Amino acid sequence: MAKRKRDLPDQNGLLPQVRTLPIFTASLILVQKKFYRQRAHANPFSDHSLDYPASPGAIDWSQHYPGHEGKAPEFADVGCGFGGLLIALAPQFPDTLMLGLEIRVQVSQYVHDRIQALRVTNGQDPTAYKNVSIVRANAMKFLPNYFAKHSLSSLFFLFPDPHFKSRKHKARIISPTLLAEYAYVLRPGGIVYTITDVKDLHEWMKAHLTAFPLFEPVDEETLRSEGRGNIVDAVYHSTEEGKKVENNKGDKWLACFRRIEVPRAR
Ligand SMILES: C[S@@+](CC[C@H](N)C(=O)[O-])C[C@H]1O[C@@H](n2cnc3c(N)ncnc32)[C@H](O)[C@@H]1O
Repeated sequence: MAKRKRDLPDQNGLLPQVRTLPIFTASLILVQKKFYRQRAHANPFSDHSLDYPASPGAIDWSQHYPGHEGKAPEFADVGCGFGGLLIALAPQFPDTLMLGLEIRVQVSQYVHDRIQALRVTNGQDPTAYKNVSIVRANAMKFLPNYFAKHSLSSLFFLFPDPHFKSRKHKARIISPTLLAEYAYVLRPGGIVYTITDVKDLHEWMKAHLTAFPLFEPVDEETLRSEGRGNIVDAVYHSTEEGKKVENNKGDKWLACFRRIEVPRAR
């Protein structure tokens, strides 16, 4: 049966059930994925209506992270989807600011509302979830507009869209050009975490990162011995895509790389 007009999302993608409720009630009761319907994939080349900051210095991070004035994000989750990684890590690193970048409108709205709801429901701790935020952004185009040189210590690419067909490979989030941007925003010693259930994409990401002179592979055991075990666990298990893969008993391939410093030739 055709949907009646009043059951359809408005221009912001919000369904009437959400629109008509007071904002707090909406975020507390209705932060449910079913009210934030969205196509499964976004086209990173058709985002013409996206706003983006002129430079990292133009961003007032205090609007995102109340109580953390003067600080900027250190963890970035690129294509954060429904925000599982950020929500898992935020309480474990209360002094570290983390930002999700997500291109899809309703999905980024969902993560925004989810964070607001967590701040309210954990109101007994005034710092809870105030170190985590989200922007709707095309990370393939505008990452350096958000992050200053060497400002990040962790960069996450978790279960990125595989873009299977060869002619679509240019839409993959790991490519030689983009790696130069990732090396720019990541500080020496910082870590790139990638994970996927698509073997071909794993090989692709590993090959490109290995070939790039500013990254070196770092294995899981080393990361755990350096005290990053809780991050690795969250990478494996906390995201919505990762949970789907687990439910389907699929494989997961992890590949991590350290940003290295290469002395300039004189
Ligand atoms: C397969 S989902 C994985 C989501 C999440 N990382 C997880 O593991 O559950 C890939 C996500 O990346 C987002 N995405 C794709 N291209 C993007 C881009 N250029 N900038 C920001 N987000 C992007 C998609 O909208 C989608 O939500």
